[in-house]
Amino acid sequence: MTRRRVAILISGRGSNMVSLIEAARAPDFPAEIALVLSNRPDAAGLDRAREARIATCVVDHKAHPTREDFEQAMDAALATHHIAFICLAGFMRVLTDWFVARWAGRMVNIHPSLLPLFRGTQTHRRALEEGVLVHGCTVHFVVPELDAGPIIAQAAVPVVPGDTEESLAARVIVQEHVLYPHALRMICDGTARLENGRVEFARPWDASGTLHSPR
Ligand code: GAR
Repeated sequence: MTRRRVAILISGRGSNMVSLIEAARAPDFPAEIALVLSNRPDAAGLDRAREARIATCVVDHKAHPTREDFEQAMDAALATHHIAFICLAGFMRVLTDWFVARWAGRMVNIHPSLLPLFRGTQTHRRALEEGVLVHGCTVHFVVPELDAGPIIAQAAVPVVPGDTEESLAARVIVQEHVLYPHALRMICDGTARLENGRVEFARPWDASGTLHSPR
């Protein structure tokens, strides 16, 4: 098995990054986390990556005059580490069409909502405001449009009376940590393939599971 060399791009605490690093420790995991790249020198996730003995690199967006310049520097760092695939994990910079095209089909993101609902920021607050009773998270391929792109996997959680942004975020992040490694595994072992702008799956799965909210 050739393990795909994956870079995780972060901007903050890196809890999804940790879940990917831990999953990739399994001998049969079809990807290796070869680099953690942060656009913020103070991202807490950098220390967690170093503790896990993963190569780290900072490409500070503030040190680059333009978005293009910043992305060229990221691209060069990715090339230096022979990266084949990118996982965005709480990476809070909007990417240009150039970078997205360069990594088309080779870059995925995790978003804290059931896309296409609640693209952008403050997803938990907006879910509460809208009164949805099911919320969740999505892993998707990255396309130029923000938080769009073919969906690889989703996980749903109930929204319950008395929920706050914090309590809902806490419920969703638990599922993010399960979903992201699962999605990366499916992509790297060929179970989920991008074909003509859609994700095709090489196996069927159980259609009987339901989430009733309220139950
Ligand atoms: C996660 O909830 C992730 O889904 C979200 O940021 C958080 C990062 O947490 N990403 C986005 O909102 C991207 N649009 P983490 O640094 O602990 O993984």
